Amino acid sequence: MKRNIPLSTIRTFKANDEVRAYLLLKEKHLRLTRDGKPYLDIILSDRSGTIIGKIWEHAGDIEPIIDTGSPVGVRAIVEEFRGQRQLNITRIVPVNEEDFASKGFSWELILPHTEQNTDKLWKFVDKSIKKVNNPWLMSLLQLLIIENQARIMKHPASLRLHHTTIGGFLEHLAYMLNLGIPAAKQYALDRDLVIAGILLHDIGKLEELSGYPNNLYTNEGNFLGHVVLGYNLVDKAISGIPDFPDELALKIKHIILSHQGQYEYQSPKKPSFPEALLIHYLDEMDARMDMMKTAISRELDDGDWTSVKNYFRIPLYKPKKDSEDRDTKQHKTDSGKKP
Ligand SMILES: [Fe+2]
Ligand SMILES: [Fe+2]
Repeated sequence: MKRNIPLSTIRTFKANDEVRAYLLLKEKHLRLTRDGKPYLDIILSDRSGTIIGKIWEHAGDIEPIIDTGSPVGVRAIVEEFRGQRQLNITRIVPVNEEDFASKGFSWELILPHTEQNTDKLWKFVDKSIKKVNNPWLMSLLQLLIIENQARIMKHPASLRLHHTTIGGFLEHLAYMLNLGIPAAKQYALDRDLVIAGILLHDIGKLEELSGYPNNLYTNEGNFLGHVVLGYNLVDKAISGIPDFPDELALKIKHIILSHQGQYEYQSPKKPSFPEALLIHYLDEMDARMDMMKTAISRELDDGDWTSVKNYFRIPLYKPKKDSEDRDTKQHKTDSGKKP
């Protein structure tokens, strides 16, 4: 790649710019144009966003040398197509850490990471687990959460919808706990069941998604989904804990099966006791808050409103630049109180 264009990131790409960047190849599809000429349709990402790219020349030769889940160096023209930015790629090369570190490449550039400190989030999760008095739930959390700490700290909570970053899964659990523990007190619920239910509701995601760098649905994820995978993990763990009470086992399994709340959201059951209902609402709220904040932060033009191309399908109000600065400062001052 020529040196005269500085490296940039997806977030800053503007229509008609010529750009140079290190990006992660998420998907590649070799297709034919109407004239029968092969071209490559690809999806690229970095820690600031995701973008579609097209390779019109030598697509058949390039396709085998670039691997999905691997970093690539890209030079391209940013174009606008149906209101979305996309890349017309003029050069693409596979990248490895040894050869490209001196040329500005690092994994940090391309893998999206939660903005929160994952060590602090984990400490909060660990502290919450220590509050659990029920010995069977404690054993279950030991088996499925504590023993999976390394994976939980790096896993995303979903592929495209919410908390899609490295550490996003942990952030989702910690935020739900931070709201759920006081809510359990407020509504006089079984606090141990709320803590365990929150921590286990999405445990199937560890098997549903491959995690970074490529972060795709696994075969198990595509065939079974995280609700069934989570149920199986919990069922198996419970059968290894002697004398686990039957009703408690059914309740924790019900929380997993009902947490998505509605049949049309792949939930085989609807929440049928208060702890399960609380976990469903906390899950829904935390996911939607993350989706709205992300959708707003990804639109960079100067307008007051986003486009309707987001989960909510309405224009979302964007904070003004100065209030954004104020919010960031506020956020920093508040961070001591966050999990
Ligand atoms: Fe879920
Ligand atoms: Fe969730």
